[in-house]
Order: sequence, then structure tokens, then C-alpha cells
Amino acid sequence: MSGFEAARERVEALRREIEAHNRAYYELDAPTVSDAEYDALFRELQALEATHPELAAPDSPTKRVGGKPLAQFAEVRHDVPMLSIQTETDTGPNGAAQFDARVRRELELADDAAAVEYSAELKFDGLAVSLRYEHGVFVRGATRGDGVTGEDVTQNLRTVRDIPLRLAGDAPPLLEVRGEAYMRRDDLARYNEKARARGEKPLVNPRNGAAGSIRQLDPAVAAARPLKFFAYGVGALAGWRPPATHAALLDTLAAFGLPVCEHRAVVKGWRELADFHDRMGAQRAAIPFDFDGVVYKVNSLALQERLGFRSREPRWAVAHKYPAEEARTVVDAIDVQVGRTGALTPVAKLRPVFVGGVTVTNATLHNEDEARRKDVRVGDTVIVRRAGDVIPEVVAVVAEARPMQASAHDMFAQEPLHPPFALPETCPQCGSRVVREEGGAIARCSGGLVCPAQVKGALLHFAGRRAMDIEGLGDKLVEQLTAGGQVKTPADIYMLDVPTLAALERMGEKSAENLAAAIEKSKQTTLARFVFALGIRNVGETTAKDLARHFGKLENLMRADAAQLETVPDVGPVVAESLVDFFAEPHNREVIERLRAAGVRWPESEGQVDAPPGPLAGKVFVLTGTLPTLKRDEAKAMIEAAGGKASGSVSKKTDYVLAGEEAGSKLEKARELDIPILNEAEFIKLLEGAKL
Ligand code: IVH
Repeated sequence: MSGFEAARERVEALRREIEAHNRAYYELDAPTVSDAEYDALFRELQALEATHPELAAPDSPTKRVGGKPLAQFAEVRHDVPMLSIQTETDTGPNGAAQFDARVRRELELADDAAAVEYSAELKFDGLAVSLRYEHGVFVRGATRGDGVTGEDVTQNLRTVRDIPLRLAGDAPPLLEVRGEAYMRRDDLARYNEKARARGEKPLVNPRNGAAGSIRQLDPAVAAARPLKFFAYGVGALAGWRPPATHAALLDTLAAFGLPVCEHRAVVKGWRELADFHDRMGAQRAAIPFDFDGVVYKVNSLALQERLGFRSREPRWAVAHKYPAEEARTVVDAIDVQVGRTGALTPVAKLRPVFVGGVTVTNATLHNEDEARRKDVRVGDTVIVRRAGDVIPEVVAVVAEARPMQASAHDMFAQEPLHPPFALPETCPQCGSRVVREEGGAIARCSGGLVCPAQVKGALLHFAGRRAMDIEGLGDKLVEQLTAGGQVKTPADIYMLDVPTLAALERMGEKSAENLAAAIEKSKQTTLARFVFALGIRNVGETTAKDLARHFGKLENLMRADAAQLETVPDVGPVVAESLVDFFAEPHNREVIERLRAAGVRWPESEGQVDAPPGPLAGKVFVLTGTLPTLKRDEAKAMIEAAGGKASGSVSKKTDYVLAGEEAGSKLEKARELDIPILNEAEFIKLLEGAKL
């Protein structure tokens, strides 16, 4: 065998092997070799083709990597024009009915004639291209252009792995395949992530991504883009008789190894067309690529020929659209919303625009980084997207439409009328300082106890069983108390009196009294519960206990800096930062002071030592029997918290006897000595009354 013969055999073997690896990798998603082995095969083939130019072939896998950048695209005249397609804008079932009625009229079918058969498929949202195969080999790819003349984008299309460089089976001498180059949404997202990491501009959406990639002069750029292809028809043909129907034609293209979308159906009559439209519409979010409608084509190629064309559109096809998921509008303002956890979200206020089936006036910008990355400013024209039930979002700014003004520094220059977006330094709801969490992506209001956006959650947490344990203060009451303005911070809970509570909806005198008693009771707590109740971000029950044990006194905890906080077991930089931010906010400190002034206390706290004399200062109580709700210890703690004393036996020095059921000798003794006897409700009233 000559050296040349050996080279030819090796080249052919390499091509077969590389194509097999390509199929395994791109079509079956199951790689059969390592990247390094693949690269070695590929380089060997490239080297052989370079030393033996006569062995070069248009369908060699080496052609996939793209050649030299072009100065401009060459023109391509389409032998068979690339037509456009009539659009049915009625997105309801009527759209299908109108098309079917038109077809029947043109075919002069009687009303009782059989239903017309259609091929129904998706209307892909990418770029139309034409692929020319001569004797099964891909020789030229072109864009649609104006339909008559397009651009030669062969180099770029060769890099699309989906597009076979050689057709399978018995390919005709000439076959022009028409179809759509597109990008999957997940591929686009992955590509954009990498592009951003490299500091490059991301692609706006799959359609722009596909169109922009195909029209790249540098094929290496196109090669790096995750493009795909679906065949949906044919153009010029020679030496081949296509099958009788469009559906069979698509099957044949698939058999040649061309990708044909699986979401298609052969149906009869307009109702089945409308069903297909509905069915695909419902799957729109689940299908990994964008399609903006469905396309109906008269299935019989003979009938297609009879129907013919009107100007540039065939009478045998129609695009039945879905409500657009993207639209353009103008940003009137950028508001900042505060969520239940204090997270700040910039929201674009839009000129009302109909998109995704509804009128949209707001679109989220997610966070400050996102708003800055997209560089959305007041006055900008933006592309808004609303897909399915997803919250509307700003996809991109239309750069050319940004309002400009003469530059203040350079009379010949223009500068944007509005500055880049920035979040405020203080919370728009409560004026507390805005802090950034580790990593910085999320900005949060630090006024957890006072911020109206956060107060409901804060109150429910504060009153919770493991926190201050205010029995009966649940969802509905918190809703009423915050809506009515009676409670703005947790400290306000301790300002509520029975008449105020009784005036609330569905609240009788008795429940009001019970709630007042529960509120009163909650004042006696522990430092750990109190710290937990404050709802400091990242401070759960266990951390609160550790902090209480470590610092002993609230004042010490409030004064601690991050380094001191981090000496506590399990307190890392994130928790420490949350604590420092929380206690640094004057609004929060004020609420804490008010809570303590209202009588919230815990054993062995500094506050208890130099607390002002409580409402029961100096009073001596004796407890006897079982109280309806309070446990003995709790009642005792309440007495002590209010400055009183609990004694074990009744004497002349006893001021009150607090008696429950099955009270025995102590009760009798009290009666003898004429000492006032209280039941639980009266006791609570006394605490209340004494306070007022
Ligand atoms: S058929 C004779 N089928 O729609 C009609 N077009 O055609 C020729 N498009 O930009 C086109 N999906 O790229 C046909 N399943 C489909 C299609 C489709 C998308 C695009 C096509 C062109 C526009 C008008």
C-alpha cells in the first residue's frame, strides 16, 4: 500500500470514529471517550488533512470547528424562494377555524365534504436557514434573507452538531432542507453563566442568541454557541420524488438523520387543530426551547400545490400564535419593595403592556446586582417577559432607546439622562439601615422589630410558644392589631388593655381578659427566650440559649462586637454579623428599651436588679389551691416580677391570698384574718390595674 493509500484509509477511519463519538456525545448524551482521547484523534485527522489537501472533504468532522473569519457573507440566491407564513393573530380556537374555513373555500369543498387533513407542528422561535445537500453531502447553508437572496453562512452552520454533514441512507442528488436554527433555554442559561464569568455580555434570549450566532463573521464564535436545528420542510429538489404528505416528508428527513421535532401530529378539521394548539400551549414551559405558536400545514402535497401562493405566503399554511411572552415598554420608575424577611427588591414600574396574556405594570429586577448588570434605568425602553405564571421580569434594556442629555463636561458628548440604579442606604418602609449579607447579593432592612413590612412576621415570632409564649396571639389577631395601627412593634403588645382587645372583631370580654392575662404572664421570661423572640436573622433557639448563657446580661450581648460574639460556640461570622447589625440599629434598641420598661424581665438580669419598683411592690401574697390557667411557679414569678413577694403561710402580714380550686386551710385562715382573697382573673386585673 502506498503512503497515500495508508493516509486515505487512516483519514476515513478517523472520520468514522470521530463521528461515532460525536453521536454518542451530542445525540445520546453518553460520551464514549475522554476529552483528551477525542482531542488526540481530532488533531491527528487535522494534521493528515493538512499534509494531504486532496483528502479534504466538506463533510469531515474537522469542518465543525469553523474556518477563518470572513470580511462579509457572500450572497446566496435561493432556487426555490424561502416563503414567509401567514400569521393568525386570534390566539383562541377561532384562529384554527378561520384557517380551515379559508382552505375549504379555496379548495371549493362542499360543507358536507370530509374534514381536511393537516400536519400540525411547532413554530420554532429561532432563525430560518436552508441547508443544501448534494449527493448527501452538506455543501452550503444560507439564511433566509429577504426570501429570494440570503447570506452564505455555511461555516457557521457546519459548527451546529445537530446538522449532519452527510445524510444517512440513499440521499437524492439535490436536497435543500429548510428549518430553524435555535437554542434551548437551558443551554442559553449555561452559556450565559460562563459568558458572565468571562466578563462577556450575555445573550438576551434564545432567538437573538440563535440569530446572532448564525450571523457571526467569525465561525469560532458561532462554534462556541449552543445552537441546534429542526428541519420543517424542503426547498430545491432534484432526482427525487418526495412522499405524498408533509408528515411523511418530515419522517423521511428524520430517516436521513436530520433532527425533526417530536411535537407534531396529523389531525383532521379545525377542532383537532385547536386541540393541538391548546395541548402544546399547556406544555410551553415544560418544552426546553421557545416556540411562539404552532404551524398548520395542509398535509397532502398535491393539495398544497392546488392551493398555491398569495404574494409571498402559501395558502396551505398558517402560524397560529400564542400570546406573546415578551413585549417592549418603558420604565417609569424603579421602586424598592421590602419583603417579609426584610429583603429589598427593586421593581420596575412600567407603562402598562399586554404580555403573556395579561396587562403588566410591574416587573421584578430581582436584586441590586441584577438591576445593575442589566443596567436598567428610569426612562429606559425594556423587553419584559412573562412566561406562564412566572412573575414578569425585565429581560434587557433596548440600549438605543435610552434617553440622553448633553454632557455637563463635554459639550459635544451625550450622557444618560438618569444615573445607574442604586438601592437606598435606608429602608424605604421604616428608615432603618440597609445591610448586605455575606456575599452582598441580598440587601436587607435591619429594622426587624419596627419595619412595617416585617412586623407581622416579627410579632408572630415574638409571641410564639418557644419565644415570649403569648397564648392566643395568633395570625388573625396580629393581622387586626397591625391593620388597626394598635401594634407597630412588639413593645406595643404590652400597651394593650382589655377594652382595646375586647373591641377587636370576634373578641369577647372573656377572651380579651384571657389574652391580657397571657400578655401579662409573658413578661416573666428568660434571657434566652427574649433573645430568640427578637427574631434576629440567623439566631435560632439554640443560638439564643448559647448567647444568654455566655453573656448573662442583655447589655453585655448588645455591647459585644463580632470578635467577642464569635467566641461563643457555634457562632460564626454570619451570625455575629446579624447580631451586630441588629443591635446597631437604633430603632431596634428603642423597642428593646420599651419592652423592658413595660416590665419584660428575666431572672438574674441586670434589669431586675435596678428595676423600678413594680406595681405590686412590697405586697405579700400567699398561693393556695389550683388556679385555672396559671401554674403555681408562673403566678409566683408574676408576683415577683411586679415587685411583690410570695409567702408560704398566711399571717397578719399577708396582703392577698390567691386561691384556686381545692384550696384548704390557708383559705380558711385568710377568711379568719379578713385578708382579701383573689381568684386568678381578679389577680390579673390587680396586676393590670396596678399598672394603669
Ligand atoms: S414553514 C411555507 N414551519 O416561521 C412556509 N416555518 O416561515 C415556510 N418557522 O422564519 C415555513 N417554525 O423559520 C415553517 N414549523 C415551521 C416553522 C416555521 C418556525 C418560521 C420560519 C420563518 C417563519 C415564516
